[in-house]
Amino acid sequence: MTERDRVQSSEAKGPPETDPRIEGEKHPVARMIGIGLLASLVGIAITLWIDWFPENAAGSAGKIDTLYDVLLICSVPVFVLVMTIAIYSVVRFRAKPGDMGDGPPIHGNTRLEIIWVTIPFIMVTALAIYGWITLDDLEAKQKNEMVVKVTGQQFTWTFEYPSEKVASPELVLPVDRPIEFRVQTKDVIHSFWVPQFRLKSDAVPGLTTTIRVTPDKPGRYEVVCAELCGIGHSTMRQFVRVLPQSEFDSWVSKEREAAGGGAGGGGGEQAAAPDGEALFTSNGCVNCHTLKAAGATAEVGPDLGKLEDVEAKFLRTSIVDPNADVTKGYEPDIMPQDFGTKLSKEEIDALVKYLLESQE
Ligand code: CUA
Repeated sequence: MTERDRVQSSEAKGPPETDPRIEGEKHPVARMIGIGLLASLVGIAITLWIDWFPENAAGSAGKIDTLYDVLLICSVPVFVLVMTIAIYSVVRFRAKPGDMGDGPPIHGNTRLEIIWVTIPFIMVTALAIYGWITLDDLEAKQKNEMVVKVTGQQFTWTFEYPSEKVASPELVLPVDRPIEFRVQTKDVIHSFWVPQFRLKSDAVPGLTTTIRVTPDKPGRYEVVCAELCGIGHSTMRQFVRVLPQSEFDSWVSKEREAAGGGAGGGGGEQAAAPDGEALFTSNGCVNCHTLKAAGATAEVGPDLGKLEDVEAKFLRTSIVDPNADVTKGYEPDIMPQDFGTKLSKEEIDALVKYLLESQE
């Protein structure tokens, strides 16, 4: 008798009353679920034991961490339970070599299906409601908010404080004051993220997105771009300094003074000239170029401290029209092409002068 005949003849006789593979197995389902629950407890213990996040520096961070823990507690058992039952079944009820027979035909199991649809439905709905309540809470308008405009561009962040009339390449915030970030971009999609604040917001062309944060721990944290935005994406990192209110106030007045001086408000010839190094830093040049004099080490664009026999005219053209003469080994269209409109003639002159003086 061939293998095929045997299968056919067993079909003809109809399936056996009990499946020989689980004969003698007492409560196989209960056993699988028991092992699954045990494995789930171990899984939950491991995920809660892992420290997922950096330190917590904003009022809302605790709520987000709790939400994350709840999500883990709910999702780990689902995964572990399903995998345990699958692996257990594969190992325990494996067909003996040569066994080509079918198991008893089943037409589904209504009770089981109701259970495995209802439980996930309740879990997902409950988690969605919990997540929505938490988000609503985090986005609620606060008293005494300070607006900070965040602008992303390849490959730098700039920050504006409309109420203080100050703009800065560095994000400085007073501690315990609610901040409303209004996030925009000048070119592609970026994502504004301070891991210690937990919240993150995409900067989308044509939109202003908003997030609210109340920093509650003085310190220095990294501002990260969390959206792949081009060749310099990984260098798009700056810092946020969270300061006591009094230090923040003195920072604001210092920035205001510097901006006033730079605009040529008063003083003599010297005070009126824009500062080349400050321009180099505040316009994001440092995020793409290496320049020893400015402490810049980025490698998206050419090293600007090693330009042989460079002339002022070439530097001016390269700032205003970067595609005019792209250095060999680098791609066109990487550098923003709006510096000609963004910077005044005096500022470009100052930058060029600074670059000429910074050659090694
Ligand atoms: Cu900007 Cu990544």
